[in-house]
Amino acid sequence: MTDLLWSKPGVAVDASIQAFLAGDDVILDREFFLHDIAASRAHAEGLQRIGILTSAELDALLRELAALAGDFSNGTFVLDARFEDGHSAIEARLAERLGDVGRKIHTGRSRNDQVLVATRLWLKDRLGQVVALCREIADIALARAEAEAALAMPGYTHLQRAVVSTAGMWWAGWAEAFIDNAERAARTRDWIDANPLGTAAGYGVNLPLDRAHSTLALGFGRMQVSPLYAQLSRGKFELAALEALGSAMLDLRRLAWDLSLFTTAEFGFVTLPAQYTTGSSIMPNKRNPDVIELMRGSYASVAAARCEIEQLLSLPSGYHRDLQISKGALVHGFGRGLAALALLPDLLRNLQWNPDRMRAALDPSLFATDIAVDLARQGVPFRDAYRQAADPASWTRTDAEASLAARVSPGGAADMGLDVLRDRWRAGAGSDAG
Ligand code: ARG
Repeated sequence: MTDLLWSKPGVAVDASIQAFLAGDDVILDREFFLHDIAASRAHAEGLQRIGILTSAELDALLRELAALAGDFSNGTFVLDARFEDGHSAIEARLAERLGDVGRKIHTGRSRNDQVLVATRLWLKDRLGQVVALCREIADIALARAEAEAALAMPGYTHLQRAVVSTAGMWWAGWAEAFIDNAERAARTRDWIDANPLGTAAGYGVNLPLDRAHSTLALGFGRMQVSPLYAQLSRGKFELAALEALGSAMLDLRRLAWDLSLFTTAEFGFVTLPAQYTTGSSIMPNKRNPDVIELMRGSYASVAAARCEIEQLLSLPSGYHRDLQISKGALVHGFGRGLAALALLPDLLRNLQWNPDRMRAALDPSLFATDIAVDLARQGVPFRDAYRQAADPASWTRTDAEASLAARVSPGGAADMGLDVLRDRWRAGAGSDAG
């Protein structure tokens, strides 16, 4: 390993303790490395602006930072256990290439604000991906709601057949859900859009750091002013981002549940594209919906990440090494969540309904609520109407189209309000973030 940034003469370093301290940190830092380099660039520019670096020194640093980013991206430079972490790796490389100039980069910064800013840029990027995916999902759901507005199927409560409904109503539900999820992720992105770089170890430094410059250069919406709060926000902002992702994942989990039911022989409403199913190693007859099951299960990874980070935050103010553990949870949670969400658009575009099976499931009991409400409209007190319509002898209706045409309550099958949803989608908070 390269020399530890903080090593002291006469203090021996124990290898197993070092291994425990480092853990998989340097591997995880691969996720954040390009952001760390971008923030190092902004920091170096700031140092030149306040006279700590000459223009020539800045130019050399910027050149080497760009070369490092290139080497990392094309695999020439591997971030591995030769380094304690990504931050040390950047400094070691600059020192190796530029000598004393490289050793100036860390003036006025701490790994504490360095990890914060790299993580924050990563979070903004990942939330942008959540926004874009949720918007794409909502777009598909809206289009299919419109196209399949008249495709009749039962609506369920308690998994029991309840009333006549449509595939259009099913789609509209997911459309509005994912418009909300996009909006939540976009708002969370705005909420965390604050620059922690320049807060150093959590207490500022005796230099007039140009924090306004790094805020602008890194594309942050504002400066995170209080150094102490910058430290307090580590983990807290990760949690907020995971909650926004979790909101989308919660809906994905329920949607996947619907699909796994609808594809059973018992329902038979939906046929999945063949590539979303797998076979069994022993039962030659099986086609299993493994993809939607893994999508459903991915919620657990997001929930676990939230739980782990929340547990870590039981800390007094200031930096504590415990916080390092939050990176693994974050990377794992977002990795699983985004991978699952990313498969959903194509699945939704390509799934096929089986209209005959859906219609065959419309038994006469599904019209009972219509009958009760119609009686009430004619003046019968609803409780009496309800009792009359509970009698199977009254279940004489079979016209699903008539039932749907009469479902005029806003949001109902005859007035789904898709134009309202489409307007919201168009105006969507985050429509710029995709
Ligand atoms: N790997 C560390 C983390 O993720 C970087 C910050 C180290 N700071 C320190 N004071 N030891 O938290």
